Amino acid sequence: MNFNELPDRRGTLSYKWDQREKLFGGEDVLPLWVADMDFKCSPAIVEAVVARASQGIYGYTIKSKEYVDAITGWFRDRHHWTMDSSWLTDSPGVVPSLSIAVRTLTSPGDQVIVMSPVYNPFYDVIVKNERTIADSPLILKDGRYEMDFVALEKHMRDGAKLVLLCSPHNPGGRVWTKEELLQLGDLCIKYDVQVVADEIHCDLVFDGNTHYPFASLSSALAERTVTCLAPSKTFNIPGLQTSFVAISNPDLKRLFDGEVSALSIGSVNFFGPTATIAAYTQGEPWLEAVLTYVKDNHDYAIQYLGEHLPGLTPVPSEGTYLLWVDCRSLGLAPAALKRLMYRDAKIAFNEGSIYGKTGVGFLRINLACPRDVLAEALTRFTQAIERIGS
Ligand SMILES: Cc1ncc(COP(=O)(O)O)c(C=O)c1O
Repeated sequence: MNFNELPDRRGTLSYKWDQREKLFGGEDVLPLWVADMDFKCSPAIVEAVVARASQGIYGYTIKSKEYVDAITGWFRDRHHWTMDSSWLTDSPGVVPSLSIAVRTLTSPGDQVIVMSPVYNPFYDVIVKNERTIADSPLILKDGRYEMDFVALEKHMRDGAKLVLLCSPHNPGGRVWTKEELLQLGDLCIKYDVQVVADEIHCDLVFDGNTHYPFASLSSALAERTVTCLAPSKTFNIPGLQTSFVAISNPDLKRLFDGEVSALSIGSVNFFGPTATIAAYTQGEPWLEAVLTYVKDNHDYAIQYLGEHLPGLTPVPSEGTYLLWVDCRSLGLAPAALKRLMYRDAKIAFNEGSIYGKTGVGFLRINLACPRDVLAEALTRFTQAIERIGS
């Protein structure tokens, strides 16, 4: 596994690489934005998908016991969470699952809690389903985000029905501790608030941190939680559009499944179960190697920024392959930050305002790329900032 080599993704219909002219105004822009990795997948997944493709008929697909066992085995072994196969429902994506959960657990006009800055589709699944955003911004304290339990409780007291929890947190990089999750859970129980836990980043956790599945913390929390999961971030297969939810409460599951059925999106992608089985049964060594590489990239970026751009403040990540950087000292509005990146530096990080008002002045760097690419992007960024300063 050589993560130092950049696979040439140009001309592969890559969302990240093949839209550079359209989105950023130049084919020479280095893309470190949308969350997929510039690393080839685990050979086990590639082999399984190639063998599946060589069958030559891409017909409607059923789930096998092997598929369900692969999922439950992974969460048992990696997260000490014993799931029952009856809890699982397939979904074409975690974001579609979030949307379905919002539709089934709330009514139009209801308040749904998010903790900004947060992954931008969280807002869409609330607003586009005609619910209302109840933002409880995270508190940035000593370079680390914390939940604001006072603001959370106020929203719940005021009638919010649901929390969209991002765990681990994108873009803030937090891997929530058991204590934090339990404190949130106590509030949810007290005010009868349900939880949609987006745990897509659950496997991308750096040493010294532990991901706790929210629903695994107690039966009272499991009762009120819909957990949205996928092998897509972990194993870099998001284009296969394969994901699932785990719901142990039969009443909640019936509601969720009813909406899946109404939308008629219950069938699985031809390649999805094949890739999922390979990932969860053979992918772990690849994942461990990726985590080591990404953590080194993370430390490299933080050191580089400290030496070359000490005015900027990275928020160290405990997990995910994303680095959130506080660039407010540049004093640039979102449009100017974009110009600085796309036009002057010829790089594309994610501009922070898409993650909410609390993201204004921040940038999100995708660290899942060869070290040379990261180094080149940081160099270009530094030089562009030096040019505007001179
Ligand atoms: C927190 C979070 N949820 C969901 C997704 C995307 O999920 P999907 O592609 O399965 O809809 C992402 C992708 O970056 C993410 O960061």
